[in-house]
Amino acid sequence: MEITGSIKRVREQVREWRKAGLTVGLVPTMGYLHEGHKSLIDKAVEQNDKVVVSVFVNPMQFGPTEDLESYPRDMDRDAALCEKAGASLIFHPEPEEMYDDNFSSFVDMNTLTGGLCGKTRPIHFRGVCTVVAKLFNIVTPDRAYFGQKDAQQLAVIRHMVNDLSFGIEIVGCPIIREEDGLAKSSRNTYLSEDERKAALVLSRSLKEGRKLVDAGEKDAAKVKKTITDIIEKEALAKIDYVEVVDWNTLEPVEKIDGPVLTAIAVYIGKTRLIDNFIVE
Ligand code: PAJ
Repeated sequence: MEITGSIKRVREQVREWRKAGLTVGLVPTMGYLHEGHKSLIDKAVEQNDKVVVSVFVNPMQFGPTEDLESYPRDMDRDAALCEKAGASLIFHPEPEEMYDDNFSSFVDMNTLTGGLCGKTRPIHFRGVCTVVAKLFNIVTPDRAYFGQKDAQQLAVIRHMVNDLSFGIEIVGCPIIREEDGLAKSSRNTYLSEDERKAALVLSRSLKEGRKLVDAGEKDAAKVKKTITDIIEKEALAKIDYVEVVDWNTLEPVEKIDGPVLTAIAVYIGKTRLIDNFIVE
């Protein structure tokens, strides 16, 4: 497995693969890989002849007060995980390779990005769309893999691919959790022992919400209240949002009758965690 920071080298390699008639899957990541990322790589290896994993902590999607500097990094461990999973190439560029001094073009969206995480992270999805569009242009994959863990991101990328005719199949993958229910995240490493325990309130509250929906509850406000009440009982938790939205438009719904995303963002101490469930 090769690791390169060069856009030119990725293009060269992909061109060779294409000449040999091979299909290519892309798994975009910010590194510090865990079982969640690995599930995406596994799926990509299963469905494509060659798999490229990008590892790039994208400065453009971090707000000025966010954790760009402290975001965890461990390239040696990431490389070992990718190799073992059967990836063929890691693209690990320096920020200067992706954004030169004259960089001034962005991919932005008028829908889908205003609510949920977009409210507290106003420039986030512009950064995500721009970097993912660049990765798509560099790697030109047949398929690209995204986790439902970041459900809004998955919806936004699907929308961008359709709007801009990328001709890439977007494969959504289920949320991978710790044994006790906490959704795996590189940011879980920020949690102290007490906070780690408190963080269980996310998956626990969603489980109760889901039970209600499965039992036939149609009133979104009731589902939100059940989730909110549970989170508010946890002293270390502070709610950013609890929302029930249409899974296609991400607009809030009052009645649960089509495909619906129930998504939450909660501060546990200083760490902001997200989780969700989708009822198709
Ligand atoms: P990152 O947070 O590293 O996540 C990379 C991919 O792994 C995303 O598609 C995310 O949804 C998925 N993922 C993370 N935790 C998961 C879990 N517990 N279960 C299933 N999938 C999980 O998301 C990003 O990076 C960036 O925004 C990126 C798309 C790479 C653009 O910079």
